[in-house]
Amino acid sequence: MNAQIDSLWPTPGIDLDDDTLTAGVLRDDRDEPWLRVNFVSSIDGAATHNGLSGGMSGEADKRVFDVLRRPADVVLVGAGTVRAEGYGPMRLDEPAVRWRTANTLSRHPVFAIVSAGLDLDPSSTIFTDAPVRPIVVTIGRSPLDRRNALAEVAEVIVCGDDDLEPHAVLLALRSRGLAQVHCEGGPMLFGALLAADAVDELCLTVSPVLEAGSARRIANGSLPQSRGMALAAVLRSDETLMLRYVRGGR
Ligand SMILES: NC(=O)c1ccc[n+]([C@@H]2O[C@H](COP(=O)([O-])OP(=O)(O)OC[C@H]3O[C@@H](n4cnc5c(N)ncnc54)[C@H](OP(=O)(O)O)[C@@H]3O)[C@@H](O)[C@H]2O)c1
Repeated sequence: MNAQIDSLWPTPGIDLDDDTLTAGVLRDDRDEPWLRVNFVSSIDGAATHNGLSGGMSGEADKRVFDVLRRPADVVLVGAGTVRAEGYGPMRLDEPAVRWRTANTLSRHPVFAIVSAGLDLDPSSTIFTDAPVRPIVVTIGRSPLDRRNALAEVAEVIVCGDDDLEPHAVLLALRSRGLAQVHCEGGPMLFGALLAADAVDELCLTVSPVLEAGSARRIANGSLPQSRGMALAAVLRSDETLMLRYVRGGR
């Protein structure tokens, strides 16, 4: 049985189904570029438990994780997360596909993977079982042989010479009709997107655990000053909170 998810704010609601949860994150103007990022963290700010996010992700978080893929044109993920979490192809389940086709979207979002070193196996199911040709986003100094090998199974796009240029990434995706970008991390990619002030929304699940220790946070790097975000929604499932913040705030 699905974990029950209630809405606490702004519109209270009990036991929301997936379609209602999706409606809550659907944007009116799908042509307007939007970058949403999703993370789970412990109460004390850890992004991993034993090196993975899974240890902190309960059933409710997994539901929200899946729901957030539904309205996406493209799911953007750093290669570190792809490798650590053992990602497979970006293939949504049947209810999600039904929802997408009913809402005039393609059956599956595009999977876009960010990598500088291109340590990605072209024979992985990520590429061989992909329902849509994935995109590999890289930089000019990435190894040419790996780039050529990946170009056989994915579209490889170069955004930046020595360093990734987040706005060039978003522009390249936008020019391919992929305006609604959903990023599933990880911390290095999120840090780079934040530093470029490219993030429009953060969906953060607060898992009811304390981790202490040296577990990493959801964002690497540093910002010249704090970035204010405005609270947009609060969901709850038992002890777990699922918060949505958008650009703005203090
Ligand atoms: N709590 C959560 O919700 C959550 C979510 C996602 C991940 N995680 C955890 O985070 C850990 C992975 O962290 P991570 O920081 O390595 O994740 P990441 O950002 O997904 O991956 C870093 C790698 O992605 C590529 N990359 C990302 N940003 C880049 C940039 N600005 N420029 C060039 N390349 C870039 C590079 O790939 P190459 O090495 O191929 O060059 C880099 O080494 C894992 O333990 C994972 O479980 C937690």
